[in-house]
Formats: sequence, structure tokens, C-alpha cells
Amino acid sequence: MKSKLMFKNGILKDKNILITGGGSGLGKAMAEAFLHLGAHVVICSRNQEKLHAAVEDLYTKTGRKAAYLPCDVRHYEEAQKAVQFIENQTGNFNVLVNNAAGNFISPTERLSAHAFDVILDIVLRGTKNMTLAAGKFWIDKQRHPVNVLNIVTTYAWTGSGYVVPSAAAKAGVLAMTRSLAVEWAKYGMRFNAIAPGPFPTKGAWERLLPGRLEEKFDPSRRIPLKRTGKAWELANLAAFLISDYAAYINGEVVTIDGGEWLNGAGQFNAFDQITAHEWDRLTEIIKRKK
Ligand code: HXC
Ligand code: NAP
Repeated sequence: MKSKLMFKNGILKDKNILITGGGSGLGKAMAEAFLHLGAHVVICSRNQEKLHAAVEDLYTKTGRKAAYLPCDVRHYEEAQKAVQFIENQTGNFNVLVNNAAGNFISPTERLSAHAFDVILDIVLRGTKNMTLAAGKFWIDKQRHPVNVLNIVTTYAWTGSGYVVPSAAAKAGVLAMTRSLAVEWAKYGMRFNAIAPGPFPTKGAWERLLPGRLEEKFDPSRRIPLKRTGKAWELANLAAFLISDYAAYINGEVVTIDGGEWLNGAGQFNAFDQITAHEWDRLTEIIKRKK
């Protein structure tokens, strides 16, 4: 990862960053990048063993020690404890990354009301809990500049079948990002989001492409760049957005998906499949119509 980072050592040295869901996948990749760049990092999620192992692994990779705290973002008191924990650890908590999520594919009519709620609760309520706990804390301490980075996805604005609770929740998170970017700018807070397309993480792939689905619906086939994302690519973007170099970026959502969602949106994009020979013939037919 270190050789893939575009920024210099030390650009995040004044950043004390709480990453929810930082023990695996993209959250852990961001933690690694931020540690390499000099930040102090606290990761939190539900599974203590996973967090412990992640911190050990991050130490091996970066030579820097992250801290961890078991925390279920669905509960406001736990969010408040996480905020107090990073403040006690660092003395200057100033960046929150809302990355924790829950998701699985299912026809919506097969979901129990509870199953729908579980996803809404982790993604939307969880982000609300962390954001409200951090925001109130920062306002009370008159701390600024501070910033929040929310990890959403591109179906936050397109919607998507078979992941409806996640789509609804991510749309809510995106609305919260843009709303608070305006309302709380007066307190010196910035809010931005990253909207990733498919990045092969264990957590996502096991729940979104189980069994032979990966073969059947290989995401790279519908991505114009013909590949999925790499965690370090997202980590570079995240490092920039939380850094002071992005101090004037507020309320933005940056897509990192190799062109995937636009490919689905543009009505004629499937014409990629037309060969040069067919184009010759089609051009002739069209020109003849003059
Ligand atoms: C239907 C399901 C189900 C499934 C669980 N449930 N899996 N229903 N199909 N595949 C139902 C259960 O029956 C139960 O409802 C309810 O959901 C809660 O399930 P639990 O297992 O009790 O919940 P919990 O232990 O809290 O686990 C939450 C979880 C789990 C979301 C179900 O998958 C998890 O821990 N996920 C965390 C990590 C994660 O999801 N990572 C992927 C992020 S990827 P009943 O009614 O029976 O009680 C991502 C990508 C977005 O977000 C964009 C991609 C491009
Ligand atoms: P992941 O490894 O499964 O990450 C999800 C994390 O959330 C886990 O570490 C999990 O840890 C934590 N979590 C779940 N429920 C929680 C709760 N109630 N409280 C606290 N933490 C909780 O999957 P990922 O792919 O890296 O996903 C990271 C983020 O990227 C998510 O926001 C996801 O929606 C987004 N995203 C991913 C993709 C992709 O293709 N991978 C695409 C678009 C967006 P515990 O189980 O220990 O709690």
C-alpha cells in the first residue's frame, strides 16, 4: 500500500480519525493509508477479535499503532462512548469516517420487517448516531476545522433492486452529507462522501455475489474500465478529502467506480458491442436517409 500512496508522509499528522467498520475491507485499507500518512487512528465495530487482529496487522504493515473500541453504531450511547474514547486517546478528535455498513442481496418481498430494519439501522441510524455524537461534541468544544467523510455508493442516487434497504439508507446518508455540509459549515465542519462502485472485499462479495453469482454477473463486465476498484485507490481519495488540501471541498460526493453507473445510465452505451464493420454499414444506411 505505501508505494501506492500519492501523498507525502506526514500530511495527516494532525488528524485524529475515527473510522467505523475499520477492522475489515475498505475501512481497514483507509486506516492503513492514514497511518502511513501520520494520522492517529481509532477503528471501531462490533467484533472485538476482528478489531484486535486488524490493529496487529496494521502495526505490522505501517509500524504505527492504531487503537480500537468495540462499538455498535446502532446505539447512540455507544457512538458517544466512541467519540469520548478517541478524544481521550488523542486529545483532539477531528475526523470521523462513517464507513460501517450492513448489506445483503434479497428480493424485497422476501425480507422480514426486521431484516429491512437491520440494514437501515446500521447504515442510516448508525451514521446519524456517529455524526450527531461527533457534531454535538465538536460544537460544544468549539473545535474546528473538523470533517466527516461518509462512504455511500452510486445507487444512493440511482436506487437499485435487490438491495433496497441499503439503497434507501445510503440515499439518506447522502442527503445528510449535503444537508449538514451547509448547516454546520458555520461551526467549521466539512462533510463529504465517497461513492464507490464494486471493490472486491470479503464482506461485500460474500453478501452481494455469493455462490456462482460472481461468474454470472461479473461486475467488471459492465464497468467501462473493465475492472473493479483497488482499495488503495479509494484510500488515496479518502486521504485527500479528509486532509487540509481539500479544505474548500464541502458537500461533495466523489464517485470512484470506473464509469459504472454512467454506463448503466446512458441509453446508447451498450452500442459498444457494435463492430467497426457494422458501423460502416449503419453509417451508410443513415446517410442514405438524407
Ligand atoms: C434475507 C436475511 C439475510 C438474507 C440476514 N437476514 N441475512 N434475510 N436474506 N441473506 C435477516 C435475518 O433473518 C434477520 O431477520 C435479520 O436479517 C437480521 O439478521 P441477523 O443475522 O440477526 O443480523 P446481524 O447479526 O445484526 O447481522 C447484520 C447483517 C450481516 C447485515 C445481516 O450481514 C452483517 O453483519 N453485515 C455486516 C457487514 C456487511 O454487510 N458488509 C457488506 C457491506 S457491502 P429475522 O426476521 O429472521 O430476525 C456494501 C456494498 C454497497 O454495503 C454497494 C455495492 C456496490
Ligand atoms: P466490510 O468489510 O463488510 O465492512 C463493513 C464494516 O462495518 C465491517 O467492518 C463491520 O464490522 C462493520 N459493521 C457492521 N455493522 C456494524 C455496526 N452495527 N456497528 C459497527 N460496525 C459495524 O465491507 P466493505 O466492502 O469494506 O464496506 C465498507 C463500506 O464501503 C461500506 O459503507 C459499504 O457500503 C461501502 N461500499 C462498499 C462497496 C464494495 O464493493 N466493497 C461498494 C460501495 C460501497 P463488524 O462486523 O465487526 O461490526
